[in-house]
Amino acid sequence: MNDLENFLVDVHDRIPGVTSDAMAQLPVRAAGSTHASTYELLARSVPRGPGPIGVLDLACGDGALLACLACRGQPGLALHGLDFSAGELAAAARRLGGRAALVRSRAQQLPYPDGSFDVVLSHMALMLMDEAGQVLGELRRVLRPGGVLAAIVAAPSPPSAVHQAFIDTLRASERGAAWQGVRFPGRAWRDEDSIRDLLGGFAELRVDDVVAELVGDPAAAWGWYGGVYELQMMSPAERERFGGRFRAAVARLSAEGQAAASSLHFRLIRARCD
Ligand SMILES: C[S@@+](CC[C@H](N)C(=O)[O-])C[C@H]1O[C@@H](n2cnc3c(N)ncnc32)[C@H](O)[C@@H]1O
Repeated sequence: MNDLENFLVDVHDRIPGVTSDAMAQLPVRAAGSTHASTYELLARSVPRGPGPIGVLDLACGDGALLACLACRGQPGLALHGLDFSAGELAAAARRLGGRAALVRSRAQQLPYPDGSFDVVLSHMALMLMDEAGQVLGELRRVLRPGGVLAAIVAAPSPPSAVHQAFIDTLRASERGAAWQGVRFPGRAWRDEDSIRDLLGGFAELRVDDVVAELVGDPAAAWGWYGGVYELQMMSPAERERFGGRFRAAVARLSAEGQAAASSLHFRLIRARCD
């Protein structure tokens, strides 16, 4: 494991559920429709029809996406989750109570035979992974021919006063400088042309914009920004102080009428394995 992977395992072992806490209650718009969350949106890529359907959630975290699928009670749906954080997997096991087979592994080397799954899903994780080509090669290998890959990845959000307030608060915080060291490899996932290059080996590629509005409310803004990786190495007291300063900054913006247009952008990627 490299430094980035050690960082991610450390954060997710200490704070399982950090992503679903920030995103499970965040409604989003995609292709003209509103969805309760990106988890609900992504779960729609799994067909509801009868018959056996094997689904892998790659980097499943605390099992929020698998739980959306398990709640369907759909006969024949076989759910699998993989993550390299033992803390997240323990949380997923508590949430799912045996309704999914959970495995601890790196995504770059999957412990499944060729053609194991009809659908592979991944929510907010592909852009964190080094060796994207290797990961996608593994996904093609474990998907059956004709199987579906569907993923939510982060996309660049337009500049906003709320985001600037977060950056300013971070720069002014006692630990701000320490976070410069965390470098994510995800640039290749951030624009549509690069995504198309990465997924060149798949067919029927479709990329949709997904947008959440933060509506300028301090609590809603902290619900998202409180979960970002930059803050997870702070002590609880430091993070609470940071949160107080950030919420105060957003409240000032709201009072000035500047915070309303803040939005978060993601992409829904869907493709078929030849
Ligand atoms: C942002 S969280 C998303 C978790 C979950 N999919 C969700 O959205 O709630 C990223 C997850 O990816 C996992 N992860 C990151 N890189 C990984 C890798 N190379 N192999 C396996 N898991 C990885 C982390 O442990 C973490 O659980």
